Amino acid sequence: MQLQIAPSLLAADFLHLEKDVQMLNAHADLIHLDVMDGTLVPNLSFGFSVMEPLSKIATVPLDTHLMIVHPDKYFKRFADLGLKMLSFHLEAARLEGRDAGEMLREIKELGPEAGLAINPDMPVEEVFPFLEDADFILVMSVFAGFGGQAFIPETFDRVKKLKAEIRRRGLKCKIEVDGGVGLSNAKELHKAGVDIAVAGSSVFKSEDPAATIAAMRG
Ligand code: DX5
Ligand code: ZN
Repeated sequence: MQLQIAPSLLAADFLHLEKDVQMLNAHADLIHLDVMDGTLVPNLSFGFSVMEPLSKIATVPLDTHLMIVHPDKYFKRFADLGLKMLSFHLEAARLEGRDAGEMLREIKELGPEAGLAINPDMPVEEVFPFLEDADFILVMSVFAGFGGQAFIPETFDRVKKLKAEIRRRGLKCKIEVDGGVGLSNAKELHKAGVDIAVAGSSVFKSEDPAATIAAMRG
């Protein structure tokens, strides 16, 4: 399957969000939305007041990445926005002493595809017990919190290991990679087993975002 591109709105022009969403409606496979709480990650982004109007004008499916503690408090409200994909961090599940598998099942019951995200310092094997429950694993290729960081090359090995395990068990779980992804590494990531590439700066800071998205798809 072709690599799917999910541009991250974090790098968009917030004074002209509608314009950027229209561009993504015409060219992207998904729109990636980063919700940060300043506690799980050292930064704040946006919440429902931005996402509600966005969900009304987006015609491509939404992929929401929760970088917040107690994400389960908000699963229902996010699911009600009609998202296609909803992910939370394994780190957040551990902080509240909950079983990530159970949380993934909660998301699926509400409608969206359920994803489990991990930061680069968490061994990728830690998600193996949840591969039956997860529709996708979000492998962070930078530390969650900020756009525009440099891609961590060890991500390739992490993706390959994860892909091998998914294949070995004959599962359908997809792999999404997020952080520092662009034209220089998208093709190799796809080869390593990535299904969905999130790309913020590389899309929005390029001269021609639509052409960049198309070129990344390969
Ligand atoms: C980082 C976010 C990313 C970010 C990616 O915490 O999860 O989605 O927007 O931005 P780039 O592509 O600029 O690294
Ligand atoms: Zn993200």
